Amino acid sequence: MIVAIDGPAASGKGTLARRIAAHYGLRHLDSGVLYRAVALRMIAQGQDLADAEAAARAARDIDPADLEDPALRSRRTGEGASIVSAVPAVRAALLDFQRRFAAEPPGAVIDGRDIGTVICPDAEVKLFVIASAEERARRRALELTNRGEPVDEAAILADIKARDDRDMNRLTAPLKPADDAVLVDTTTLDAETAFLAAVAVIEARL
Ligand code: C5P
Repeated sequence: MIVAIDGPAASGKGTLARRIAAHYGLRHLDSGVLYRAVALRMIAQGQDLADAEAAARAARDIDPADLEDPALRSRRTGEGASIVSAVPAVRAALLDFQRRFAAEPPGAVIDGRDIGTVICPDAEVKLFVIASAEERARRRALELTNRGEPVDEAAILADIKARDDRDMNRLTAPLKPADDAVLVDTTTLDAETAFLAAVAVIEARL
């Protein structure tokens, strides 16, 4: 079984994906980490994130050890990921890794922006997870505070809106629900209620 979970930043898709994977004994891939690793590699090498050629090279050079760096979660890396992820050659370089991950038994839960539309168009279950921008900013602020990073909630809200805009309006693999995705709005749901709603969708498809 493949469960594709897409949605904007801080919508709750990552938490949901981890819980679904644990519940059904499936492997989990947070595909955002791949784009973050590309940005982090470029930042570490002092490269310009807007340099599409350098971004494509960094994407081809990614190896599994790059996916463990704690700096992947920082705000700057997330911003950088959203810039490099608009480059078609970056997306192409990361496609195989994601498809191979999905194909390995016993199946996978993959979360991202284009999993249901591009990476796994035949996934048995597709969820599109949304929440208001204000609620997502509040969650991201809490997450950063818990990691000891400085927090300016207004700046985080502005980042989230800029990221939504870039992710939804890029030409290659924009963030949008697949035709057969089920919408889960987590604005007023806690993690447990969102999980139960997702399980109900999955059970109806099995
Ligand atoms: O989900 P996360 O915040 O880690 O993603 C960082 C950025 O990576 C997103 O803003 C998006 O631009 C990009 N991304 C993507 N496609 C994916 C996952 C992430 O373009 N499947």
